[in-house]
Amino acid sequence: MPKAKTVFFCKECGNESPKWLGKCPACGAWDSFVEEPVSVKPGSAKNSSSLRTQTGAKNVPVELSKIEAREDTRTVTGIEEFDRVLGGGIVNSSLVLVGGDPGIGKSTLLLQVCRVLVEKGLNVLYISGEESLRQIKMRADRLGKFSRELMLLAETSLDNIEEVLAERKPDVAVIDSIQTMYREDISASPGSVSQVRETTGALLRIGKSLGITIFIVGHVTKEGVVAGPRVLEHMVDTVLYFEGDNSSAYRVLRSVKNRFGSTNEVGVFEMVSSGLREVRNPSEYMLQGHPVGEPGSVIAASLEGTRPILIEIQALVCKTTFNMPRRTAAGTDFNRVNLLMAVLEKRLGLQLGFCDAYVNVAGGMRVAEPAIDLAIVLAILSSFKNKALPENSLVFGEVGLTGEIRGVSQAEARVAEAVNLGYDTVILPQVNARSIKNDRIKMIGVSHVCDLAKLI
Ligand code: TYD
Ligand code: MG
Repeated sequence: MPKAKTVFFCKECGNESPKWLGKCPACGAWDSFVEEPVSVKPGSAKNSSSLRTQTGAKNVPVELSKIEAREDTRTVTGIEEFDRVLGGGIVNSSLVLVGGDPGIGKSTLLLQVCRVLVEKGLNVLYISGEESLRQIKMRADRLGKFSRELMLLAETSLDNIEEVLAERKPDVAVIDSIQTMYREDISASPGSVSQVRETTGALLRIGKSLGITIFIVGHVTKEGVVAGPRVLEHMVDTVLYFEGDNSSAYRVLRSVKNRFGSTNEVGVFEMVSSGLREVRNPSEYMLQGHPVGEPGSVIAASLEGTRPILIEIQALVCKTTFNMPRRTAAGTDFNRVNLLMAVLEKRLGLQLGFCDAYVNVAGGMRVAEPAIDLAIVLAILSSFKNKALPENSLVFGEVGLTGEIRGVSQAEARVAEAVNLGYDTVILPQVNARSIKNDRIKMIGVSHVCDLAKLI
């Protein structure tokens, strides 16, 4: 008997290789190749050209000027944080991927979206391959009353799903999750790269030809043989990632690809007992109950997408009892914190080599932008000297290796957010301070870490 043919796929990005590789040459992931049987018969163009099969006929080139430009029709859900991330509502008959860690709230979010869509009189079909109908019902009960009927289907066979979609022609369908779906003509197991790719391809075709808006849930997986959502990013119209720390209720919906809008927008939610609650004012949420006038606590103005958000950065610096000082950074980049401490040590002569240092972004948020450098530096300095920053003050700015304080983008928006929330002093890079006119707040421009010694 001839040996069954297999190929290797990177389960991070879907890259294909005839042999196993330790590192994916396309995305750089280590140990990500998995072996799968060859499933797609060569020459079955149906699987590769999604656009052509939409119309069934062969497409011919068309002059650009002859094409009618038309805004895509959108359905506004009324969940503002969700609409914003999509660029102003759901584009009809688009294919949207919602990725995220297991348990982060993807099913909850989409069920809430379904709820508002049925209320608008749309025909919605929720297809789950993970949970029984009763489990979905229990979740739906927690979310509140559904004023109109939502259709549910527990199914994992894509062939059956295709039939149901063609028969019922819903306006919106949710596939929860793509990793549980399979096509019978593909021998690889559900969740494998070939299954995930082929089932998405089939959904793309059926969605576009019947005008159904389809939401696909994809779990981000760190291990195991399940293919992650990145494998399908190029196939769908919009890719949203739902992020957050499992230990906190704060969730951010981010768009990383959007054919119909900007990818700068984020939606902020909080997980409560009745589902996801929109957080209209993330700054207020992040600063709830923060200490006032305490050393080591600094308010920083950061950005989520294009939206300014104020966060609290805390640092605790104390004498070490170990040979090697302990350093931790929660919610921000550990190496960046070490670098900033080295800058303080070199430029200000601070003896941090004998100190443990713990830096934390309060509220369970993750911030990686350099504009919080100055806040980290001031928090460390403030804890080291055991002196608090001026009351009601706020900080932003990037710190360079020579100790210079560099300007950051969207400084004006950050200052405006500070004014909105009633702050009366802002410590910011000198270059930004010069360009901003705002007499409702006192601005202290700094250009080097040496200037900071005067402040505390
Ligand atoms: P879920 O939507 O099932 O996550 P995913 O589909 O991304 O795997 O959400 C799971 C978590 O959300 C679960 O741990 C419980 C929590 N949760 C609430 O806190 N409140 C609620 O009202 C609901 C429905 C879920
Ligand atoms: Mg789920």
